[in-house]
Amino acid sequence: MKSIAILGATGSIGQSALAVVDAHPDKLRVVALAAGGNASRLAEQARRYRPSLVALATEERGSEFMKALHAGPPPDVRYGPGALLHVATHPEADIVLFASSGTAALDAVLAAIDAGKTIALANKEILVMAGSIVMTAAREKGVAVLPVDSEHNAIHQCIHGRNPNEVKRLVLTASGGPFRTCTKDALARVTPEDALRHPTWRMGPKITVDSATLMNKGLEVIEARWLFDAGPDRIAVLVHPQSIVHSMVEFVDGSVIAQLGVTDMQLPIQYAFSFPERWAAPVPPLDLAAAGRLDFEPADLERFPCLGLAFRALRGDAGLPIVLNAANELAVAAFLQHRLPFTGIGDLIAGAMDAYEKDYSDEISGLADVRRIDAWAREFATRSIAGVQ
Ligand SMILES: NC(=O)c1ccc[n+]([C@@H]2O[C@H](COP(=O)([O-])OP(=O)(O)OC[C@H]3O[C@@H](n4cnc5c(N)ncnc54)[C@H](OP(=O)(O)O)[C@@H]3O)[C@@H](O)[C@H]2O)c1
Repeated sequence: MKSIAILGATGSIGQSALAVVDAHPDKLRVVALAAGGNASRLAEQARRYRPSLVALATEERGSEFMKALHAGPPPDVRYGPGALLHVATHPEADIVLFASSGTAALDAVLAAIDAGKTIALANKEILVMAGSIVMTAAREKGVAVLPVDSEHNAIHQCIHGRNPNEVKRLVLTASGGPFRTCTKDALARVTPEDALRHPTWRMGPKITVDSATLMNKGLEVIEARWLFDAGPDRIAVLVHPQSIVHSMVEFVDGSVIAQLGVTDMQLPIQYAFSFPERWAAPVPPLDLAAAGRLDFEPADLERFPCLGLAFRALRGDAGLPIVLNAANELAVAAFLQHRLPFTGIGDLIAGAMDAYEKDYSDEISGLADVRRIDAWAREFATRSIAGVQ
């Protein structure tokens, strides 16, 4: 029996993780759950899975949770930023799944590593912001960071047990998003409602918009750099609209090993929970004959500049990925509020990166540096969105 703590339990990944727990009640149990503001959904989950600890973003949400719980023994309820640390270091947790949005859980990831927990990481923004710090801490502590993102999970499956020197290139696949075939003019007219309709994956709003701009793939390129210790020249992106090949690895002898599966996040989540074992699938099997065909094409960096910006960030100053991540988060939020056009997302990020490169050059020696650059980029993006740059 493995004991699981989940940060972001009420979100898309969190709910899929609980479906995996439902499929394997003899192998998995839930000991702690954290959410942001969805007190009623967290209360439903608490009634069903009986965690001993739950966390919410604010005291008010904590009170709503207690009201919504109705019956059953109440768990320990924590709230505020420090609450995530309690969930991430719950003494009974073997594996902590990080699936909250943005970078709110950065300190919690480091605390979980320090407490020797196995990390199941969906939350790619954390590695984009502080990949060097997180992976160094995990190496020093001998803690496994198991990728939940389907592409990195696929790569983990392809290279596990192999000599890293035999790996030539990591090839991340991308669905291409809902606007894969749109012209540049059409992209300028995309609305939030259009962008939230992803063709192959059902996900939270931020990652769905990131998938539409291809920034999601850009964040994944940076995530892959840290998870697999591969420089930008050893990472490639290939658009694959069916999202059946989740990613591939090219080896030095020219062989390419790919991982295929249905488009359901329960599979990579379960792999992270079961590793190094494999358990029976919680979803119907892949039917390649029904899929019929698998298409591949290069990514168009002119129509989708966000992907190119991520490669630029990885090749440039150590602070650039932090700037890219923070500016993107604010730009996506502004786009969803109809305050920025779709094509303004890439423009805003490029503007932040240009300004940062012009005025700063940073060594990242600790979290304080990361937070300072993050704060600078957020302020820059806020001013840009308000039109006061
Ligand atoms: N969805 C996917 O298929 C997918 C695939 C790969 C990677 N990921 C990554 O997984 C992460 C989550 O994605 P998602 O699609 O599941 O997002 P989502 O559906 O928007 O869920 C986000 C979760 O984070 C919680 N949250 C927000 N702010 C919080 C805070 N300050 N403290 C604690 N919890 C907070 C939310 O709680 P409330 O709802 O209660 O406010 C919710 O449970 C992202 O980093 C994303 O890039 C997602």
